[in-house]
Amino acid sequence: MKKILVAYSGGLDTSCIVHWLGKKYNAEVYAYCGDILGLSLKEKREIEKKAIKSGAKKVFIEDLRGEFLRDFAFLSLKAGAVYEGDYFLATALGRPLLAKKLVEKARKLKIRTVAHGCTAKGNDQVRFEVSIYALANDIEVLAPVRFWEFKTREDEVLYARANKIPVSQVSKKYSIDENLWGCAIECGELEDPKTPPPESAWQWTGRRLKTKPAKLSIGFKNGIPVSINGKRMSSIKIVEFLNKLAGSYKIGRSDLVESRVVGIKSREIYEAPAAFVLHKAHFDLERLVFNHELLHYKEKVSKDFANLIYRGRWFSPLREALTAFVEKTQKKVSGTVYLLLKPYSATVVGRTSPFSLYKKELATYSRGDAFRREFAEGFIKLYGMDIAKK
Ligand code: ARG
Repeated sequence: MKKILVAYSGGLDTSCIVHWLGKKYNAEVYAYCGDILGLSLKEKREIEKKAIKSGAKKVFIEDLRGEFLRDFAFLSLKAGAVYEGDYFLATALGRPLLAKKLVEKARKLKIRTVAHGCTAKGNDQVRFEVSIYALANDIEVLAPVRFWEFKTREDEVLYARANKIPVSQVSKKYSIDENLWGCAIECGELEDPKTPPPESAWQWTGRRLKTKPAKLSIGFKNGIPVSINGKRMSSIKIVEFLNKLAGSYKIGRSDLVESRVVGIKSREIYEAPAAFVLHKAHFDLERLVFNHELLHYKEKVSKDFANLIYRGRWFSPLREALTAFVEKTQKKVSGTVYLLLKPYSATVVGRTSPFSLYKKELATYSRGDAFRREFAEGFIKLYGMDIAKK
């Protein structure tokens, strides 16, 4: 009997996929759900129940949050990877990890076919499949949404009802994808790029707006956040804390028309309070501890790194080589960054590091100035000699 492992979220698409694949291929279907958000016990039980009702023989739910932050999100932070200026890559970072876990689970269960619920015009099909093929050359990938008979969500709801697959009562206006690193929202009225997103479209930051400013300090060690306001915390706690605190000021929202891998432009809005604040603080620290050429060179690497993540090329030799570069640079990215949070804004207001390149005696315009001002004239003459008017 054919066995298929489905990347399962508990949503309508993947529930229908579990059932549909079982019937279509007369297969034994297994559901794999990698938790990179922080599901409650109740949510996990519900996902399990739903998968079984949809016809899964077994469901696996694994907590991948620690690995997700350490090896994916925090690496992108160290790399300074932001796509097209405003997207912190939450979804894009989750896919290669889920692909890796799917392959591992498939191997364990001796399954040769895996399936996902991504659409034909999205980036995620590319990320899943390119990652799976990079890790295994003997695994077949099925993407039923690309070839099954259902054309609309309503078709799927009818199928689900007819086959006793539980359908949630709240009809979904948007397509939402979220994990610890951020939330992505598309569809509905957001498909008109000229129209501002309604306040109700925001999933994490749509509630009350905190107005009283708050001070915040973030401690970094080797490019990774390790403490908040002087208190050491686990990576998961830090990210959860910042999502909540910065999110209460509606910090980390973005709205962009982005260039998808399959060639189309799409409009999506994002909420990534922790990622926004951490990137800002991290880059501020790099400005303090890197000399100019390393800082400027790394900014270029950041762009390439972001493109590799967005374009599904996590398991590529270039991403691995750039990771070695990034890791080497992070040895000195330790210290503390002080921020002020206000509605819709996070501002860095101070920073310290044992590796700081800032020297007061060279920078000061007051007493104690040790800068050799007599060198400046000669320096400038030589420095600009090649382009000086003859
Ligand atoms: N556009 C983002 C990306 O390609 C997010 C995709 C998923 N978004 C969603 N709302 N389901 O990484």
